[in-house]
Amino acid sequence: MDRIRIRGGAPLNGRIPIGGSKNAALPLMAACLLTGDTLSLANLPHLADISTMAHLLAELGAEVEMNGDAPGGHSGRVFDLTAGEPAEKTAPYDLVRRMRASVLVLGPLLARWGEARVSLPGGCAIGTRPVDLHLDGLRSLGAEIELQEGYIHARAPGGLSGGHILFPSVSVGATENLLMAAVLARGETEIANAAREPEVADLARCLVAMGAAIEGIGTDTLRIQGTDALHGASYRVIPDRIEAGTYAVAAAITGGDLSLEGADFESMEALADILTRAGAEIGKIEGGVHVKRGAGAICGVDVMTEPFPGFPTDMQAQIMTLMAVSEGASMITESIFENRFMHVPELCRMGADINVHGASAIVRGVAKLSGAELMATDLRASVSLILAGLAAEGETIVNRVYHLDRGYERIEEKLSNCGAEVERLQD
Ligand code: UD1
Repeated sequence: MDRIRIRGGAPLNGRIPIGGSKNAALPLMAACLLTGDTLSLANLPHLADISTMAHLLAELGAEVEMNGDAPGGHSGRVFDLTAGEPAEKTAPYDLVRRMRASVLVLGPLLARWGEARVSLPGGCAIGTRPVDLHLDGLRSLGAEIELQEGYIHARAPGGLSGGHILFPSVSVGATENLLMAAVLARGETEIANAAREPEVADLARCLVAMGAAIEGIGTDTLRIQGTDALHGASYRVIPDRIEAGTYAVAAAITGGDLSLEGADFESMEALADILTRAGAEIGKIEGGVHVKRGAGAICGVDVMTEPFPGFPTDMQAQIMTLMAVSEGASMITESIFENRFMHVPELCRMGADINVHGASAIVRGVAKLSGAELMATDLRASVSLILAGLAAEGETIVNRVYHLDRGYERIEEKLSNCGAEVERLQD
């Protein structure tokens, strides 16, 4: 299994190209199941999760053609996805187990073919993550759903019909699944308390390009007029705000100065606010975002994760690492996922002073972290250990980096191009 070795202490200076958003790309790829025409998606990142989704779509009878690759640049790949009638309407356990976002094929398969079987994702490293909101929402559109032998079996023999959905709590995936189901349902659907994440808006815009009628994009109330059929479209995936945010923290933690090429500042405002209050300078520049460490030290700031436009849970581990080397203390509260503090024991092994009490962690800044051999757990926890290694004295080795490869394209290359001493060790 690959490991990453980092020799800490070098400030990061230069330019980092930001890829297409993984979390926007996954539902966009699933949307190809809504039409028999070709959906052409550009700016797809080169990541393991994207390959898993491509694999799943191929199992479901879609033709997946990779049309152009840009290994040296950040223009991303283009996929042409054409979904004919599937022989099987089943998303098997083996693929869903690898990637929870596989559940996103449920809404489109059911809406187009009146039937779908998707393995239940089961537990995962960052909490139980049920799919009840997805299933209750689909039931509101007339689906009959049974759970059999670890599978969700959804049926709507006469097609789905529009309905009113009020989510009791905000879910990105459930909003996306219901949006894809509602565009082919008969009549009007209203989704209230919808997730407002930029990735949801990106999906809605692509569905509109495919012929769907959706109002309220970017707000918490989506109104959809169902249609009989959608057509193909060409669509470009938005830049990854979490990848950009992670490199912004890398600049702040190493005392560096980075231009994040292609990053979208508007989708990063909650993070920018925290970084500014902590003493970094971050702002919009032509074609991206510029970030550098301010003149003084980084100081402790309290952070609470919330649905968009609040501070993203996918940046919680990274900001905690920055706070671990700040002057002062900070309270970090995780309000989206239970059990998302798995990076804490590893950071403490590097000398961080962090105490977890329920959903909050008290971080008392220390002057220096020291390098150590570490174990990556989930995707964002893994990258927080890389950030810690960049700031630490001495050598850090991060094991089990396959988590990292699910969400960060060529991370060691992007970091070393800006002066970091990082290398991948292949076993
Ligand atoms: C997506 C993102 C993930 C991000 C998360 C929150 C993708 C592929 N992944 O995940 O990176 O961390 O949004 O911004 O886009 N929940 C239920 N029942 C449900 C669905 C969710 O209780 O049916 C709970 C979850 O357990 C969690 C909370 O709702 O506590 C939010 O989850 P959700 O927004 O659905 O996250 P994902 O879509 O899985």
